[in-house]
Amino acid sequence: MTLRAMGRIIRIWTAFLLFTVGCSAWGADDFPSQGAVVAAQPAAAQAGVAMLEAGGNAFDAAAATALALGVVEPGSSGLGGGGFFLLYIAKQHRFVMIDGRESSPQLAGHGEIYQRKSSIDGPQSAGVPGLLAAVARMQQHYGKLPRADTVAPAIHLATKGFTVTPRLRRMLDWRKDVLNPAAKRLFLSGNRIRQPALAQVLRRYAKFGKDDFYRGQTAGRMVADMQRDGGLIRLEDLAGYRAKERRPVVFHWHGYRVVSAALPSSGGMVLKEIFGMMQHDDLMAMDRADRTHLLIEAMQRAYRDRNRFLGDSDQVTIPSHLLNPIRLAKLRQSIDMAHTTPSAELGKSTEPAGNGRDTTHFSVIDRHGNMVAATLSINYGFGSGYVSPSTGILFNDEMDDFATRPGVPNAYGLVQGKANAVAPGKRMLSSMTPTIIQGKRRTLILGTPGGSRIISMVLLTAVAFMRNQTPPESWVAAGRFHHQFLPDVVQFEPGALDAAMQKELRARGHRLQQVHSYGNMQAILWDRPSGVLTLLSDPRGEGEGVRQQ
Ligand code: DON
Repeated sequence: MTLRAMGRIIRIWTAFLLFTVGCSAWGADDFPSQGAVVAAQPAAAQAGVAMLEAGGNAFDAAAATALALGVVEPGSSGLGGGGFFLLYIAKQHRFVMIDGRESSPQLAGHGEIYQRKSSIDGPQSAGVPGLLAAVARMQQHYGKLPRADTVAPAIHLATKGFTVTPRLRRMLDWRKDVLNPAAKRLFLSGNRIRQPALAQVLRRYAKFGKDDFYRGQTAGRMVADMQRDGGLIRLEDLAGYRAKERRPVVFHWHGYRVVSAALPSSGGMVLKEIFGMMQHDDLMAMDRADRTHLLIEAMQRAYRDRNRFLGDSDQVTIPSHLLNPIRLAKLRQSIDMAHTTPSAELGKSTEPAGNGRDTTHFSVIDRHGNMVAATLSINYGFGSGYVSPSTGILFNDEMDDFATRPGVPNAYGLVQGKANAVAPGKRMLSSMTPTIIQGKRRTLILGTPGGSRIISMVLLTAVAFMRNQTPPESWVAAGRFHHQFLPDVVQFEPGALDAAMQKELRARGHRLQQVHSYGNMQAILWDRPSGVLTLLSDPRGEGEGVRQQ
């Protein structure tokens, strides 16, 4: 046996041992006192809890919540979009991520079309939707209830309608000009939104499963609409789409196990890189200014790597040394605690759009300790603005998450490279970061919308959870700050950095930019020994935590 082969076997065994040690520390015999769902809209959380009360598990609840969110939060996620479901299957002590990320239609080629046409507005900006394939996979492989039960709340909400909330009104005001006539008819004709065509699609899903959407009547209708209206999605794209099971990113930091989204989401890798840089830092002992500075510098370096190296790992090779501990230690050494390091090139300090009104996150737990963290999206508010008239499905504009023009900032100000260039069938790099963190006594299920800032929001909440110095409610409410390498500025919410902190950071050379408040985190904290759940819904939004009775 060669030395290299021996090294590999030792590494595999060490990983296996660490994993099993992690599992036993996980407290596999603890159960929460009840099940619960926290989602961005109460009706969707209730839809999930109804499944728990009907004898379903967390995965049935997640399916019902996801489908209901697509109806009552139509500007944020839905059948025309995609997302990531991070599952913990308690019986098997196993995590898995279901990747329902959109893929690029064949006709989008290498993105030439986006030199002429928008990657944000209009049907050509839509990727092949993955949500229903992911929901179907989750429900079929891991759920207990009949499929039709999990669809029923969404059908009911689409048929009976719901009242436009202030948040939705604001989003409509922002995006009304890009809506096509079918979208305008649906969303702008009064204070109550009814979606009868969408209800039909949901009914067909209940009856025939996802094949109707990907190969059947719904597929035919969507494609006919797309073809007429200038969209790129064709029957072959839909028939070829698969939700994929992926091994989540797992890492340990000071006694915590963090499990997060794998590629094509960059979330888990960026988190791992940041925590890896801080492996030998004591965030408890460090004063607030040093901690803030360190987090900013670590974000800046990890986002640089994200933007340069990450993309769909099924199509591009990700450098294997990226998260190597020696490299991360070197990156940590490159951080000067007294002064910020300017990003290599200065970008425009425009405020990236995407303040977390669009996209959505929900967290679920059931009595058996099964968990789901799910972040779902159609990208921008009301996605592409294009509703396929015959199906009532609002399409995403996720193509803009590719580097459609490498080197040029996208809607979130991200300047990305070739690894995330458009290619047929490829999945665009995401920042969605559904995450589950386990400590010695407590588990946190979390995630949020917010475009490129999602990862730094999850990071800040993770740090607050690990430090445990403030009440849990403040972890999702606290002011947020963010650095994404380019633009080379620290963006912060009103109130996130007080005057003294701003002065201190400026003294260390940071350029600060106050931005509008952002994010809409939905989290569940589980104290395992007592079984008590704390439901945490971001006060910036309209979400709610609902408990099983
Ligand atoms: O996948 C992504 O990274 C984006 N499409 C998420 C968009 C988002 O969170 C918008 N919210 N403000």
